[in-house]
Amino acid sequence: MTTLASSGAIAKPGITKSSFGKTPDGAEVELYTLTNKNGLEAAISTYGGAVVSLKVPDRDGKLADIVLGYDSVDGYVSDKAYFGAIIGRYGNRIGHAQFSLDHKRYMLAKNNGANSLHGGIKGFNKAIWTAKEVPTKDGQALELTYLSKDGEEGFPGSLHVRVVFTLTDSNELKIEYSATTDKKTVVNLTNHSYFNLAGVGQGMGDILAHVLTVEADKFTPVDSGLIPTGELRDVAGTPFDFRKSTKIGERIETNDEQIKLGGGYDHNFVLRRKTGAGMSLAARVTEPTSGRVLEVWTTEPGVQFYTSNFLDGSVHGKGGVAYAKHAAFCLETQHFPDSPNQPKFPSVVLSPGGRYHTTTIYKFTTEK
Ligand code: GLA
Repeated sequence: MTTLASSGAIAKPGITKSSFGKTPDGAEVELYTLTNKNGLEAAISTYGGAVVSLKVPDRDGKLADIVLGYDSVDGYVSDKAYFGAIIGRYGNRIGHAQFSLDHKRYMLAKNNGANSLHGGIKGFNKAIWTAKEVPTKDGQALELTYLSKDGEEGFPGSLHVRVVFTLTDSNELKIEYSATTDKKTVVNLTNHSYFNLAGVGQGMGDILAHVLTVEADKFTPVDSGLIPTGELRDVAGTPFDFRKSTKIGERIETNDEQIKLGGGYDHNFVLRRKTGAGMSLAARVTEPTSGRVLEVWTTEPGVQFYTSNFLDGSVHGKGGVAYAKHAAFCLETQHFPDSPNQPKFPSVVLSPGGRYHTTTIYKFTTEK
């Protein structure tokens, strides 16, 4: 750990590039490290566009890496947890791995029981992205682009995808997603960072004592395959009521039917979006011992709150550390799961001539 306050030596702002290894078929993978003027650091891999590490200060200025991940590309090649990755073409599940557009049925790759999850067998998290440093006024920025071919994992249309990561001098990791298509298709992009604001590494604990607020009056309950039933249910009187800041672990062990189905929280919240269109606060998480605070702002209508229920200590990440159940939380900003089959959910359809464009900001501050 580097102590910014004590050393006074803040790393120079900029972007550096290093080798992150090779994929099994010999493709070179790079790691880009963005440093802002306050010494915060975000390392992003061209494999899956994964945020491999994210170093942010605690209340004393001490930097720690706060995301789960692996030391080299090999971990990401075999990864099944989607650590830090760009998720697409469709974030979360599509029921029965199929949907219709203009009366045509599209059959997708099944990779989660009968369903399609996070883009299929080879989602955007397993793609090699083309990187380019881009000039910005508000920090260091890296552009990643990828062409998802017509028919890839069953989705129609060639989709040109562009994701720009900016580490701003206001201590935000801003992610802007855009896409265009040549045939009508569905798109839902997100980032799958697993956060533990106390810091990741040897001896790390779980996130059950982190305190969460979610700007949502409703959530989308699921069936046993974690597909939304279509209902928008009030959070009032349920363990999903995070309108007032509450410890993540406070109600996670209840007999609530929805918590049991998820093995913890694994649900989409319907954001209140107080500020209408544009950026709106989705969630805020504080970690009492370090004082680190994460705010998630987004243009998206939903956020998937996931408490790493599928981690079980069998995956060893950075520094060989075993990642246990509830070692981290995810706040995946998105359109709702299974929207292509849910006419009442906001539309995820992208047509030729149109442009998909969403923005999410992870903002880091501290409190006493
Ligand atoms: C999302 C899903 C979870 C799980 C994780 C990845 O959060 O909703 O069910 O698949 O991704 O492990």
